[in-house]
Amino acid sequence: MTEKAPLYSGKAKSVYRSETDHEYLIEFRDDITAFDGGKKDELQGKGSINAKVSAFIFRLLERNGIDTHFLKMEDNGLMRVKELKMLPLEIIVRNVAAGSVVRNYPFTEGKPFHPPIIVIDYKDDSLHDPMLNDELIIALDIITSEELTLIKKIAHHVNSVLKSHLEKCNLTLVDFKLEFGWCYDKLTVGDEISMDSMRIWEEGTRKSLDKDVYRFEKGDVMTTYHIVAQRIITDE
Ligand code: TYD
Repeated sequence: MTEKAPLYSGKAKSVYRSETDHEYLIEFRDDITAFDGGKKDELQGKGSINAKVSAFIFRLLERNGIDTHFLKMEDNGLMRVKELKMLPLEIIVRNVAAGSVVRNYPFTEGKPFHPPIIVIDYKDDSLHDPMLNDELIIALDIITSEELTLIKKIAHHVNSVLKSHLEKCNLTLVDFKLEFGWCYDKLTVGDEISMDSMRIWEEGTRKSLDKDVYRFEKGDVMTTYHIVAQRIITDE
């Protein structure tokens, strides 16, 4: 592990400078939080599992022509990534109704969305990540309308690649969250894609295999994360 203080430390990851310009090292920590930080724990091995699943998914996306920040996994478990100028947006893609969309709107849990729905939140804990619409995103000067169209196109592409991979593992991709940043002039997928940021169900049932197990105490979180990681990480 690196000795220096992190450049940035979030709820479950810390970002360190590396010895190379424009490359960072991400530490996936064992901290797990839910409900805006209202529920917090440390689960041994959680960071390592999420790092491995994220690395596998970033490689899968890269092979499918999607730009991500991923460079490589280091021997010490840190993820080497390209430096991105992050956008304060959380791009949520939904294939099936669950979570906040069921709490906030009259959808029945389990209703499939054809086509998938994209919802974008403003990433700011102090404002509790309010939902945005296209006009608000443009008015906030975060990105242009053309860039927003491109982000949605990339998010749909990520969804189709990830959803079909998980289908092969007999898993249903219910929804997931992406974060984007600028790598010079290229919109690039950053952050993580793991059991903490996806909602995954056992195919044909609504058995949770993701952070909902932690949120709603549906079973042993680490046992679930280990099993689902083994199923997702197939031979490349
Ligand atoms: P959502 O249903 O909006 O929220 P909640 O999980 O509180 O019910 O979440 C949709 C997906 O996006 C889910 O797989 C978790 C992920 N997500 C994050 O990773 N971080 C976030 O801050 C939010 C709001 C969602």
